[in-house]
Amino acid sequence: MAINWFPGHMHKARKEIKQIMPQMDLIIEVIDARIPFSSENPLVPALRGDTPVIKVLNKRDLADPAITQRWQAHLEQDSHIRAVTLTHNQRAEALAILKLARDMCAHRNLERRALRVMILGIPNVGKSTLINTLAGRSAAKTGNEPAVTRAQQVIKLPDNILLYDTPGFLWPKLSPAACGYRLAVTGAIRSAVIEFDDVALFASDYLLKAYPEALQARYKLDTLPVDGLALMDTIAAQRNFYSRGGVPDLHKVSEVLINELRSGKLGAISLETPEMVAEEAAAAAKEQAQKHDEDSQR
Ligand code: G4P
Repeated sequence: MAINWFPGHMHKARKEIKQIMPQMDLIIEVIDARIPFSSENPLVPALRGDTPVIKVLNKRDLADPAITQRWQAHLEQDSHIRAVTLTHNQRAEALAILKLARDMCAHRNLERRALRVMILGIPNVGKSTLINTLAGRSAAKTGNEPAVTRAQQVIKLPDNILLYDTPGFLWPKLSPAACGYRLAVTGAIRSAVIEFDDVALFASDYLLKAYPEALQARYKLDTLPVDGLALMDTIAAQRNFYSRGGVPDLHKVSEVLINELRSGKLGAISLETPEMVAEEAAAAAKEQAQKHDEDSQR
């Protein structure tokens, strides 16, 4: 998927984060619990150095709890990382993240000064919602416009913490291609970027493999369709979604499927596991090596 994500914004964010990072004691990275790998910003591992990181797996209400737990263990294999889960409207839990931040920096004896914490997150993961919960007021703008840019701001929080909101726009990971599709399924990438019906077909294929029972319960299926397209045809028949000439209206099916998935009507669903991501990375590396060989032979 060759998408050029707002190159101006990307350059600005990289420059500003690089500049401010050395002054930070800790990073809070907000990610989507349904896609903890795809919703990371690729800059963070490259720029953080030894700075400790708290990964907040947000929207846990929408994610499969067993898979979320596996992700936490996986992420914490890195000794600089702690992974916690969160959902909106949980102020006590959100404040516990600040306590954890203090604990993670305790060995540096910083008690006497404010702890400088940078908060990062690609659009739509719930970063503004978390900032507002922590601040106990509307300190950050929320909304469903993925590309909203904000001026940098510093917010004073309990536990003598200064929270630096990310300057500029943080872009998502679009490679391997499955990451882009998963981001589109969750709504982090708008349908203008990837064809909506393709996104639904991707989701349909995945759900059939990973959550067949959820599909059977929601769409009252006696037997499982053979593939994602057949599933979409079945939903069209069930809900009577036909366009002129009696052709299944797959666009309408796509909207219903994606909306029901996003709103949790299909149940708590995770879109990737650590094993899937590792396999995809290995396949992408193999493909790249092959391409490299072919190029050099040419
Ligand atoms: P951002 O700053 O990272 O871009 O995200 P923001 O806080 O604006 O949140 C993006 C959307 O995700 C918002 O919904 C927000 O309500 C929702 N959200 C945030 N945290 C959670 C959570 O833990 N669980 C669930 N299910 N949703 C969460 P929206 O529809 O764009 O806006 P609104 O209808 O809430 O105003």
